[in-house]
Amino acid sequence: MATTIPGYDYDAAAPSPVSAEELQQLRENVLFGPDDEVALKQAGDVLSDQVEDVLDVWYDFVGSHRHLLHPFTGADGEPHDDYLARVRTRFGQWIRDTCERPYDARWLAYQEEIALRHTPARKNRTDAVESTSYVPLRHVITLIYPITATIRPFLEKSGLPAETVEAMHEAWRKSVILQVALWSRPYAAQLW
Ligand code: HEM
Repeated sequence: MATTIPGYDYDAAAPSPVSAEELQQLRENVLFGPDDEVALKQAGDVLSDQVEDVLDVWYDFVGSHRHLLHPFTGADGEPHDDYLARVRTRFGQWIRDTCERPYDARWLAYQEEIALRHTPARKNRTDAVESTSYVPLRHVITLIYPITATIRPFLEKSGLPAETVEAMHEAWRKSVILQVALWSRPYAAQLW
C-alpha cells in the first residue's frame, strides 16, 4: 500500500513489545473473530470515499473542546494548524488501516508507534512541532465513544441491510477498543 503521507511509514515501525499471544488474548476479550474481519473489510469499502467527511466530524468534535485541542496547541497556547493538518492525513490513513490491514506483527508494530506518538517518548517528533508532551490517557480512552458513535451514520449511508450495518459497527467498536488497549501499554508499561 504505497502512500506519501508525511510521517506515515507503516513498514518502518520497530517491532512491538506486545506478543502475538497477548494480541490474541485481547482479540478474545473483545470477541473479535473472522466475521468481524469480513465486516471491517466491508466497512472499509463503505468508508473509503467518506474519510474526509468523517474527519470533519471528528475534528469539529476535538476543536469544540479546549481540553481535547490542548495537545494540538503550540508554545503560545494557540492551536497549531499545520500540526492538526498533518495529523489529520495520518488519521485518515488510520481509518483505512483499521478496516483493511491484517492485524499481524506489522500492524502490531505500527500500533505501538501510534501509542508512543501520544506519549512523551514520541509526541511532536514526527511533525517537528513544539507542543504539549503527551496526550492524557483518560482522553484517549473516553474518545472511544465518539469515535465509535459518530461512524454509524457513515456506515448507514451505504444503504446496506440493518444487520450488515450493525455487524460493521460492532466490528469497528471492537477494533477501536482493542487498539486503545494496545495504546495504553506505554502509559502503563509495568502493569500492562
Ligand atoms: C495522533 C488516533 C485520541 C491527540 C493520532 C494518530 C491517530 C490517532 C491514528 C496518528 C498516528 C500516526 O502518526 O500515524 C486516535 C484515536 C483516539 C485518539 C483513535 C481515540 C480513540 C486522542 C486524543 C487526543 C489525541 C483524545 C487529544 C486530546 C493526538 C495528537 C496526535 C495524535 C496530538 C499527534 C501525535 C504526534 O505528535 O505524533 N491519533 N487518537 N488523540 N493524536 Fe490521537
